[in-house]
Amino acid sequence: MSELKSKIDLEKLPKHVAVIMDGNGRWAKAHGKPRIFGHQNGVKAVREITEAAAEIGIEYLTLYAFSTENWNRPKLEVNALMHLLVQTVRNELKTLNENGIKLQAIGDISKLPSKTQDVLLEGIKKTAQNSRMTLTLALNYSSRWEILNAVKKITEESQADTIEPSKIDESYFESHLSTKNLPDPELMIRTSGEQRISNFLLWQLAYAELYFTEIFWPEFRKQHLYEALVDFQSRERRFGKISEQL
Ligand code: FPP
Repeated sequence: MSELKSKIDLEKLPKHVAVIMDGNGRWAKAHGKPRIFGHQNGVKAVREITEAAAEIGIEYLTLYAFSTENWNRPKLEVNALMHLLVQTVRNELKTLNENGIKLQAIGDISKLPSKTQDVLLEGIKKTAQNSRMTLTLALNYSSRWEILNAVKKITEESQADTIEPSKIDESYFESHLSTKNLPDPELMIRTSGEQRISNFLLWQLAYAELYFTEIFWPEFRKQHLYEALVDFQSRERRFGKISEQL
């Protein structure tokens, strides 16, 4: 066992880790390669981190793979990302099943190319029985879209008199988010030195510890995940209380 890994208290792991995988393009540029080369190598990091997270006992891993804003990128890059997604889900299906990993997606999947949707839905269906870890891909996802959607659904319910406004509490609201079957992430990791949330899980990250690293996503390896977990465990999570009350 690596020295770093042995420092992690397995009893105090975050249940849910969310990741903004950033820096693929800059990493590729630094290597004199096209941006898609960065995304291709980003897949290697996805594979390694998924494996490491399941191995150590994290129950939920959520990866921000494509935001609603990413449609504004050059068409060639968008197409390549969609193709990479199809390829990866297909190639990894066997490994996901062998490792008890359930695949899910959050975001407006209906707007993805039909081929991408088909392969994704097939992957979700074929891993639905797994229970060791849930791997959620945020695809065509943005938190404001998700929150607005929840507001629209709740407004309709209220107009149809199925809910009284006074009964709308946090848990009712959460049951209308695309993460309704996920606990809130306790740890959010963002790579590549950027220190932003970028429209990712705004509601769900309310109490999360935020961890930023300079490492570009294609270079993110197990050791870096362990570093983030060790850092997470060194923090005092007070939830509005004072130290002495914990
Ligand atoms: C951010 O780097 C990365 C993305 C927008 C896409 C992430 C996609 C992958 C890692 C590959 C496919 C994923 C799966 C789950 C199969 P960036 O392009 O914004 O980098 P930059 O900020 O340096 O330009």
